Amino acid sequence: MIQHKKRYGAPGCSKCVLPTQLKTQQIELQLLAQNLFKVQEDERQLLSRELHDELGQWLTAISAETEAISNSFHGNSKVRIGTQSIKESVGKIHNVIHNIMHQLRPVLLDTLGLIDSLNDLRSQWSSHNPGISCKFVMEGEFNNFGEMINITIFRIIQESLSNICNHAEATLVLVHLNHKLDVPAGTNILLLSIEDNGKGFNPKQQSGGFGVLGMRERIIAAGGKFSLYSALGHGTQINVSLPIEKVCAY
Ligand SMILES: Nc1ncnc2c1ncn2[C@@H]1O[C@H](COP(=O)(O)OP(=O)(O)O)[C@@H](O)[C@H]1O
Ligand SMILES: [Mg+2]
Repeated sequence: MIQHKKRYGAPGCSKCVLPTQLKTQQIELQLLAQNLFKVQEDERQLLSRELHDELGQWLTAISAETEAISNSFHGNSKVRIGTQSIKESVGKIHNVIHNIMHQLRPVLLDTLGLIDSLNDLRSQWSSHNPGISCKFVMEGEFNNFGEMINITIFRIIQESLSNICNHAEATLVLVHLNHKLDVPAGTNILLLSIEDNGKGFNPKQQSGGFGVLGMRERIIAAGGKFSLYSALGHGTQINVSLPIEKVCAY
């Protein structure tokens, strides 16, 4: 007997993926991505703690031993020069560890919250990029977001600033963060824009980098919207909107 193909949209049609199924899959993907970012952040936090606790303790021991040797051979200039050089190396390793820890986990985020860690990020970034004027404008209340929002916003600004210093050749950067009531939706929304007046680029051209892709994925995983506008000679602007209650807390 001839098997008639089921009409597109008819019950049982194998080619049809019903909107509800699509919606479910979309939510599952979003949860998966959220979980992936959480695992990544947890791992970074663990690494940062290990670096601090393990390496930090060995460096302190080396410093103490060096000090003791230097005191025992007080008059010996060779020993003095040698121990001084060890102390300097220990200081340098300490700074490197501190920088890596800072990249891995913005410590202030856990203790002082979003605004203080962003101010810290800005002052560190500005000290490394003295030729670029960087202005942060923050409007609204930022104290009671969950860890996920805090880390999401922090990572987006961190990656954007890193791109500006690596690629933009800008002289001005404006970061605008606004927490307000989204009147038509009746919910709270977090708006973020990061704008630079640098050389810009063609966003349609594949770069091979994962920074912009990662930012977009993070925001989508958090239930928000991400857009990037750039053109050669016209700077770059990133816009993010995050509906607050949609974001699940870690
Ligand atoms: N603010 C910016 N100004 C100019 N070019 C940018 C800016 N941000 C990103 N780009 C361009 O987009 C590319 C992709 O960025 P990204 O995904 O972060 O990867 P990466 O920084 O590793 O190259 C960069 O290589 C650069 O060419
Ligand atoms: Mg990058």
